[in-house]
Amino acid sequence: MIIAAAVRSKHSHIALTHSQAPGSALNTVGQGLPKAAHSAVEETEARGGRKACAKPHSWPISRRVHPAKPELQLPACLGTVLPEPALVPAGTESELQLPACRGRSRRPWSTAEVEVGEAVPTLAAPELQEKAATLLGVDRTLFVPTNTMANLISVMCHCQRRGSQLLLGQESHLHVYEQGGVAQIAGVHSHPLPDLPHGTLDLLELERTVTRGLGSPYHPVCELICLENTHSSSGGRVLPIDYLRQVRLLAQSCGVRVHLDGARLMNAAVALHVPPARIVEHCDSVSLCFSKGLGAPVGALVGGPKDFIEGAWRLRKALGGGMRQAGVLAAAALVGLADVEEVLLRDHQNARRFAQGLQELASPICSVDLAAVETNMVMVTVDGLPPQELCRRLQAVSADEVAQTGRAVRVLLFPWTGRSVRAVWHRDVSARDTELALRKWGFVLKQLGALRTG
Ligand SMILES: Cc1ncc(COP(=O)(O)O)c(C=O)c1O
Repeated sequence: MIIAAAVRSKHSHIALTHSQAPGSALNTVGQGLPKAAHSAVEETEARGGRKACAKPHSWPISRRVHPAKPELQLPACLGTVLPEPALVPAGTESELQLPACRGRSRRPWSTAEVEVGEAVPTLAAPELQEKAATLLGVDRTLFVPTNTMANLISVMCHCQRRGSQLLLGQESHLHVYEQGGVAQIAGVHSHPLPDLPHGTLDLLELERTVTRGLGSPYHPVCELICLENTHSSSGGRVLPIDYLRQVRLLAQSCGVRVHLDGARLMNAAVALHVPPARIVEHCDSVSLCFSKGLGAPVGALVGGPKDFIEGAWRLRKALGGGMRQAGVLAAAALVGLADVEEVLLRDHQNARRFAQGLQELASPICSVDLAAVETNMVMVTVDGLPPQELCRRLQAVSADEVAQTGRAVRVLLFPWTGRSVRAVWHRDVSARDTELALRKWGFVLKQLGALRTG
């Protein structure tokens, strides 16, 4: 029996399945889980220890989105388009009712009791947008399908002349993984700067680059600096608030604006024990993603001043992101926000526990910089073995494993660089899953003769 579900996206790397016998079905990308697996996922989550987490502070988001009776019945067809069923919260509080006929086609919205919005997208998901605006301390927010679109819209709003210059980290998601949309769609010229290990940019280098072309007809006009928080490619590092303040001061002194790619902004806020508004106040605009640690199937938002969001609305329409019955998607995002502090805190604790456990294994081929584990990611450095091979072994199950450990566990990861593997936690990976992943890691290292204790 599979009791935990697979997750496949590049930002949700850790996924774990374990079974009582080798050869159990592997959760593959894009396939629905078998029914037994769904209930098993719920079982895992119920044991996940959400209630046990400390609550460091309170943000102005109602914790129960659907009070007495569940107001949202997910449409029956949603299961056919959800690539990651396990990302749907299926907690004991019945915040979401999983569709009974996953995979069958039926009129999608016939049982929906939630406000799904009007034919005019402006009216869709107002509750989410208002709550998020309060949470982020901005005038307004706008619900969009993806964080990539949120970033692109933000860049287009800030950089209205073709050939404007955008400064950003050379490893930032916006620069590396978003198809150069700012160039191919917005005609914006990106100038990448080296990312420091903490996910920051060197302030002197930034100042030199921003001021170099000021007033010069030979240089592109620098209009925008983009930062990323948490910083994904450095392993979920949190940008210090003082750094954000200094970047903003520098930008303002040169007439440049600051956009924050806050796909994982809530992780940063939880790690810093501050309301997210304390981070966003140092930026001119922000994006936030609901489909990562917050666990919604889809959705992101862009936030900023009123006139900025009015411009963003038009751009969303132009980019094809104006969704009609978006309220159903927004409802899932609200569920993600409702218990965000405790879920993300638990993810951070699980990631740290994993990192410590891996260090305790003291293997010469796998190491973790514990000081760099700040949120829900663990970057594992792999020496003397291609990371692909390590990932292959972590995923494989064998009779040997069952004989030696009593269970068969699959840990689904993929390499991050030629020498590292990145593991990411989210609401569907429990403390118990984390322990099982660690045990499997130990088993694989032992097989490789790469355990000092082995
Ligand atoms: C930091 C960061 N920004 C933006 C994105 C893009 O998000 P989406 O996949 O919703 O477009 C990602 C996705 O992994 C990300 O990690």
